[in-house]
Amino acid sequence: MEKSLFLSALLPFMLLLGFFNQDNTTVNETAVYLEDVSQKPLAEELKCSDCHSDLIESAVVHGPASQSCDNCHNVDIKEHAENGARGLNLVKEVPELCYTCHEEIKTDLSSLPQVHLAMNSGCTSCHSPHSSDEKNILVAQQKKLCLSCHNKDVTATGEKTVNIKKLLSYSKVVHPPVEGGCVVCHQPHASQNNYLLISAFPKGNYVPAVRDTFAFCWECHDSDLLEVAQTTSATNFRDGERNLHFVHMNGPKARSCIMCHNVHASANEHLIEDKVKFGNWELPIRYIPNENGGSCFPGCHAEKTYTR
Ligand code: HEC
Ligand code: HEC
Ligand code: HEC
Ligand code: HEC
Ligand code: HEC
Ligand code: HEC
Ligand code: HEC
Ligand code: HEC
Repeated sequence: MEKSLFLSALLPFMLLLGFFNQDNTTVNETAVYLEDVSQKPLAEELKCSDCHSDLIESAVVHGPASQSCDNCHNVDIKEHAENGARGLNLVKEVPELCYTCHEEIKTDLSSLPQVHLAMNSGCTSCHSPHSSDEKNILVAQQKKLCLSCHNKDVTATGEKTVNIKKLLSYSKVVHPPVEGGCVVCHQPHASQNNYLLISAFPKGNYVPAVRDTFAFCWECHDSDLLEVAQTTSATNFRDGERNLHFVHMNGPKARSCIMCHNVHASANEHLIEDKVKFGNWELPIRYIPNENGGSCFPGCHAEKTYTR
């Protein structure tokens, strides 16, 4: 029977801990357990999970990790248990390792026009390869995970960007789907659409007032708010029956939704922005809602009031 140098090095340490923590059963059990495994013929009986079971104990276990560690690691168990850790010994580097079974993700990244820059930091910045308490073996709760990077005022390429975490922290009104997380609206890896959205939404302030231009919003809202000139029901943004969404959005040069709304959150009712960017100019909107309508006094026209 072979005596493990690796384990005998650990054993006194564990026993020492046990001595100082008489009530700590975990530590004592570990000491006894290590004594046990050190008596085993290592090559034959030890399994990876004898020492690493914590990696696959969380609620959502990655299929290949519950099946066999060999799917991804090339570890000689005898050598490893005797001499200690000698690197990860992955059969391939991430992300190629992941692509061996998730080829469709590789295809998405090479075929879709919008790729999330976070993909550059590899798959394991968001997924555990082993197990996690979160759906899709995410390393943190989905919204928290997104906000752990989207908490900056400057992009990776040095441009100014929306600090979504800060925006959410001071906003009074949050767009309800944002409460449920970010992937309700965004795709995490890559997308056919601008801003990694699940469907089409334009870039820019002025865009054609065609239904499909704003397909994304119609995933949840009724496109009548854009298409019907006179209405008593399609929108509350109306003066009498005159649809003011329609007034602002018709023809080839309509104002996009984001000229008035913040799609994530805002300090104002109805997700109305304080200011909208116009090149280098920040145009104030000065929106004041009231029970039966509201008023605004934006940089582009005199103060106007609407009453339903
Ligand atoms: C799907 C591939 C895959 C499988 C299957 C897998 N691992 Fe890993 N393992 C990885 C990757 C990738 C890393 C590096 C993680 C990182 O970069 O954060 C890793 C890291 C580790 C580490 C370093 C510590 C840590 O938590 O990151 C240990 C220990 C480990 N794996 C053990 C195991 C054991 C034991 C099994 C079987 C129960 C196993 N792995 C199965 C891919 C895998
Ligand atoms: C006798 C206990 C024991 C067994 C059995 C064991 N390991 Fe480990 N392993 C350890 C310890 C201790 C470490 C170092 C601490 C840590 O990272 O958890 C380690 C570290 C690792 C690491 C990380 C190495 C690094 O450089 O960070 C990997 C990967 C790993 N083990 C994989 C495996 C795989 C795969 C198996 C089964 C083929 C296995 N281990 C079996 C005890 C064991
Ligand atoms: C920025 C974080 C992030 C990165 C980086 C990331 N993912 Fe994901 N991934 C997610 C999220 C979030 C989901 C869940 C999406 C949902 O619930 O709709 C997901 C879902 C998945 C799924 C299951 C659903 C599907 O699309 O098939 C797989 C498989 C997957 N990711 C693999 C990968 C691989 C492989 C990589 C690296 C090439 C990677 N992911 C990188 C965040 C990420
Ligand atoms: C040996 C094949 C294999 C490798 C390698 C592999 N996966 Fe998987 N993966 C699977 C299978 C099979 C499933 C679906 C079954 C499951 O997880 O229970 C899956 C599911 C997933 C899911 C979805 C889990 C869920 O809850 O639905 C994610 C995310 C994922 N893998 C990410 C990764 C990442 C990241 C890597 C690289 C570190 C990777 N996979 C490497 C086989 C693999
Ligand atoms: C590891 C860091 C990281 C994580 C985690 C992360 N992102 Fe990103 N994301 C980036 C980087 C880097 C960019 C490029 C712009 C920048 O630097 O802010 C970006 C850009 C974006 C963009 C803008 C894309 C465009 O084309 O305009 C969206 C939308 C986005 N991320 C959504 C998400 C969502 C949703 C999640 C959670 C599933 C998430 N991000 C998690 C790093 C991350
Ligand atoms: C209701 C759908 C929706 C939800 C939920 C949502 N977003 Fe967005 N997001 C959008 C739309 C639409 C845009 C593009 C218009 C804009 O920039 O305001 C966008 C743009 C972005 C951008 C790019 C900003 C830029 O200036 O390029 C980032 C980063 C982003 N979202 C991150 C997130 C994060 C992180 C979450 C979760 C906390 C999230 N989003 C939740 C709809 C959504
Ligand atoms: C995933 C579903 C979803 C998508 C996509 C979505 N919304 Fe919403 N939105 C909601 C829900 C749910 C509410 C709250 C109930 C309501 O007012 O319809 C809401 C409310 C709003 C409100 C506030 C209503 C008020 O009076 O307070 C505005 C403004 C708004 N959405 C604009 C947009 C715009 C602009 C888009 C497209 C860029 C969009 N939404 C895309 C689900 C969505
Ligand atoms: C010119 C500014 C402006 C533009 C552009 C604009 N909205 Fe609005 N929107 C408003 C105002 C103001 C309200 C609040 C109406 C009220 O309740 O008094 C509103 C309300 C809403 C509501 C709440 C329900 C309703 O209709 O009253 C939704 C949803 C909405 N807008 C979606 C959109 C979408 C989608 C777009 C782009 C296709 C868009 N808005 C473009 C100003 C605008």
